[in-house]
Amino acid sequence: MNEPIAVMADIHGNLPAFLAIKEDLQKRGIERVIVAGDMISDCPDSDEVLTQVRLSDWIVIKGNREQYFIDHCAGLLDHWTHARQMSALMWTFDKLSRKNRAYIRTLADQKSIEIDGLSIRITHGSPDSLSELLYPDKEKERFGEVMDSIEEKLLICGHSHNQWFVEGKGKWALNPGSAGVHFNKGEGAQYALLRISRERPSAELISVPYSLKDLEKRFHESGLYRASPHWSRSIIESLKEGENLSLLMIDYALNLMEKEGIKDALTIPDHIWDRAGEEFLRNRG
Ligand SMILES: [Fe+2]
Repeated sequence: MNEPIAVMADIHGNLPAFLAIKEDLQKRGIERVIVAGDMISDCPDSDEVLTQVRLSDWIVIKGNREQYFIDHCAGLLDHWTHARQMSALMWTFDKLSRKNRAYIRTLADQKSIEIDGLSIRITHGSPDSLSELLYPDKEKERFGEVMDSIEEKLLICGHSHNQWFVEGKGKWALNPGSAGVHFNKGEGAQYALLRISRERPSAELISVPYSLKDLEKRFHESGLYRASPHWSRSIIESLKEGENLSLLMIDYALNLMEKEGIKDALTIPDHIWDRAGEEFLRNRG
């Protein structure tokens, strides 16, 4: 049996979670690591997470959040700059070091590699898009189409923050879940251990406990909570409740926009964003 490979995705600046996984890897003696994008944004320590990833010799690709940064620098997202809805993202971009900014630009959208005789495609969303959500159970047809479209035997993806490993038609697909914004009621930072034997993969899906209190403290100490209170709260509560409340909060805001007859807005207007943040999170207790 070859040495296992750790697979991580969607760290999203959650340093306590990231350090807990690194400690777990050290204890297990794992040195080979794959990171499938979205190292930054949502949690407060994107710059530090990115520095540690940059200084590693891991296999890393970009996610949609890193792409947002590139697009932001290219002036493609100017309408986001002053929208309160995007304040957490803008705060994060602002905090990135010069070296990390340059590093993001070096990251590939996807990679095709071979490890221990097994061909692997690494993507963040799907091979077609950094932002496509793949669900092997809920959207079987599309998932089958994607699997048929690649030559590699194993597909690694992230983005949905759902942890799964599936096999079909002599191919396999793995989503290691989210290291930093995991919807598992605070059970811990998610990653997967990939084992390859006789060119066949198997995966162990892992959650590593760490202190959500430490993370919450970082939200306040760093200034992210002050810069973007509604988004910060939705992330913290999502981690505790095991549900993607940030997305539900956006849906709530879009509903409010519809009720007010606001159409064709490029971002959620600030007064709607504030109302959605206050009402939605208050209604959930
Ligand atoms: Fe993502």
